Amino acid sequence: MLAEDEVYLNSGTYSAVPRPVYDEVVRQLALCEKNPTRIGAWRGRKPLWDVQTQIARYVGADPTDFVFHINVTHAMNQALFGYQWTRRGEFIASRQEYGAVTNAAREMARRNSLSFRVFDLPQTPQSEDELCDAVMQAADKDTVGVLLSHVISWNGTVMPVKRIAPMLRKRDIRFFVDGAHAPGLIPLNLGATEVDFYGGNLHKWFMGPKGTGFLYAARSMQEHMEPSVVGWGGTPHDSGPVHEDGNWGAGRRFQHVFRLQGLMDCSPFLALPATLEFRQTIGEDLIRARIGELVRYTRHRLGERLGLRCLSGAPDVHAGLVQFRAPETWQQEQAQEKMFTRYRITVPIGQKPHTGMTLRVSPHIWNSEADIDRLAEALSAGP
Ligand SMILES: Cc1ncc(COP(=O)(O)O)c(C=O)c1O
Repeated sequence: MLAEDEVYLNSGTYSAVPRPVYDEVVRQLALCEKNPTRIGAWRGRKPLWDVQTQIARYVGADPTDFVFHINVTHAMNQALFGYQWTRRGEFIASRQEYGAVTNAAREMARRNSLSFRVFDLPQTPQSEDELCDAVMQAADKDTVGVLLSHVISWNGTVMPVKRIAPMLRKRDIRFFVDGAHAPGLIPLNLGATEVDFYGGNLHKWFMGPKGTGFLYAARSMQEHMEPSVVGWGGTPHDSGPVHEDGNWGAGRRFQHVFRLQGLMDCSPFLALPATLEFRQTIGEDLIRARIGELVRYTRHRLGERLGLRCLSGAPDVHAGLVQFRAPETWQQEQAQEKMFTRYRITVPIGQKPHTGMTLRVSPHIWNSEADIDRLAEALSAGP
């Protein structure tokens, strides 16, 4: 559905949705309006639970340890503010974290009288070992919590969260993972990790409808969480009225208390199975392989041929998003806007702390090598 005369190279912000997914969202919206009570309100129960079951399995989680959110910002807030700290100490986050989530972590630390510290990760890592070492060296004896992205949003570094998680748990350090970019880009098997909390987006690489994300909370963490939005699901302790309608949620308290509360439009979530079906028709492996191919081509075309300095790490610890230092001619205000108005290319170009003016390319299966060539030509021609 992307505009035909444009090149869209920014699935790192929002992915385009495939036509059948869009059609399904619209069909769901229309269906709801046939009878907003019987269809609209009730489908938020069993029908939504059935979708939750499918998507949780896709990310390797038990559906009862998984709740939907409208995006990863909300999911990470629920985890960060929901967890009840029993120890005081220090909360740390890498300097490469996404600003919105860093803000949430810093504020959570302030409200809980934890100190907050930012630590550095290697900018262009060459191995998992290097990344593990950076995190484990940053965590000291006072550290009680760590925030890390699974895939770093600026340059696509893939953090070895599966390896880091048991090392942190052994030291009784809570591990919050911001997986905004992981679902649909790299395979996930959350239940097989020792991550404590994991937020994910489904409206980025997965190609789900806008306004879809989730939180996974390890079973052992759930009893230490408090809800910040209390609705008919009640709280973990209260004796007030609780709606435990039907069998959805497998009767688990966590589900009733922490799922999205109150009436809302479920259409985007109910269209997620259409996204899964679309992906399965093409093949998960093929989708990932094609993204990998386009990423390699981008590195080659903009890095080796055009000569831009690549700010992404080695291919073994990298996926999806490739960052480059912008050419001299593009080191100016409004560069991103000019790229669009002059060349009809959507690609983020902006000032980043420590790396200066950079651009980030995040191609997906609708792109071709010709799109990357068009970007390379625009970059050499200048704004
Ligand atoms: C690493 C990371 N975390 C969080 C977010 C926020 O995503 P959303 O706005 O969908 O909550 C982004 C968005 O680009 C991101 O890259």
